[in-house]
Amino acid sequence: MLKPKYIEQREPLTLIKNDLLRILDVSAISKNRDVACNVSTDCPSISSYNLKNTWRQNSRNWGHPMHSMASRSGSFPPALADYFINHFSRVGDLVLDPYSGKGTTSYQACLLDRVGFGIDVAPEAYVLTGAKVHIVKHIEAVEYLKSIRFGISKTNIRDVHPDIKVFFSTKTLAQILVIKERLLEDLGIDTTKINYDSGLVFHHARTKKEQCAQYWFGVLTGILHGSSSYSLSLPCSHSFSMAPNYTKNYAKKHNLKKPDRNVIQCMIEKSHYLQSSGIARIGGKAYLGKAQELPKSWEEKFDLIVTSPPYFTAQNYPWDNWLREWLLGFDFKEVRKQTTQTASCEKYSQAMYGFLKEAYRVLKPGKRAFVVVGDVTKKSGDEKIIINTSSIISHEAKKVGFNIDLIINDDIPPTKRYNSSFLSVNQGLQIDRIVCLKK
Ligand SMILES: C[S@@+](CC[C@H](N)C(=O)[O-])C[C@H]1O[C@@H](n2cnc3c(N)ncnc32)[C@H](O)[C@@H]1O
Repeated sequence: MLKPKYIEQREPLTLIKNDLLRILDVSAISKNRDVACNVSTDCPSISSYNLKNTWRQNSRNWGHPMHSMASRSGSFPPALADYFINHFSRVGDLVLDPYSGKGTTSYQACLLDRVGFGIDVAPEAYVLTGAKVHIVKHIEAVEYLKSIRFGISKTNIRDVHPDIKVFFSTKTLAQILVIKERLLEDLGIDTTKINYDSGLVFHHARTKKEQCAQYWFGVLTGILHGSSSYSLSLPCSHSFSMAPNYTKNYAKKHNLKKPDRNVIQCMIEKSHYLQSSGIARIGGKAYLGKAQELPKSWEEKFDLIVTSPPYFTAQNYPWDNWLREWLLGFDFKEVRKQTTQTASCEKYSQAMYGFLKEAYRVLKPGKRAFVVVGDVTKKSGDEKIIINTSSIISHEAKKVGFNIDLIINDDIPPTKRYNSSFLSVNQGLQIDRIVCLKK
């Protein structure tokens, strides 16, 4: 197996493993008193600028090509996951991200020869995580595709919702429909059995056939919308599914064309690129499920957690991915009911308590969890207040038994902020904070 190219380009490490204070410039640590939602924490904190050889030295695009399967708003850079995995776990360790998003931590763990586990309640996040960590080689994925009898779609194109048709030409859409149906059959997600109302949200691809279907779903999710040569939609954002009416009007004004694509060919081209530097040697596991309800059998199983829960309502993941969720047979409104997305301090704290309690349960004693959260701006009457979400995480983490080692403050440059192209320089999340916890 090829060793991923980027590992060879890494700066030689001068840091010492498994000892947080040894990697820091201790003189730069200060005591911060933060207050948020009536919760105050006294924690040692440090600016990420004072850490040595961190993710800051790498561009946002640093990392293995597989990480670019799909752009998804709210993701952290692979270099950040790499930093914590590399310094706080060993080869063969089990690394968990219970809010896995597009699978950044989970796949980076596999690339570093750890076993990367990911769980997310959003179907497209689950599919993207599984598509990466199941280690389906391009050749076997193409063989699987060749074995499918695509035939014609059960869905008449006239019955497709007009919002979907805004994005695709009739020829392209006809192919997407049939591929979607065949892959759904093989992946075996029965959306009628996944009951979002009863909280019974669980799926995990076990067989090679399910994993191949999940791989291609991941690839397809990544090219569904965007403006590259293999994007299937009219030119639009790659990171989030745009609003249909806005897109329709914008396309009309700018005379944007819906391309006729050979969908399978686009999928194969993208897959070829994703694996152009080889793939990870060690596989992992992906689950559709909730961070607050991890499997009972995971008691003291993990050596490290690197994760990033939602920050209040800073992002609306189900709406941002509504077209991708349609592809997988889900309605974004149903998905939204299950995600942690609330402006209420009380509800947010409860959700974080639930997650941290589970994180504590599944970590081995003495092991660490790194939780990345951003400060958010909230309206309180006529006033705007900034909530330091890390205070809530620290407060809830103490309740479940964690020690809080440190908070790393990481400024987000204006151009990298969420939806930065739509916001002025002073808007958007301005600082991420990484809460370093120890069991
Ligand atoms: C900040 S994003 C994580 C992004 C990830 N670090 C990455 O690089 O792609 C938060 C994720 O939490 C997921 N989520 C929201 N509520 C959840 C819950 N209760 N359980 C599990 N995942 C949840 C969202 O779907 C979203 O993918």
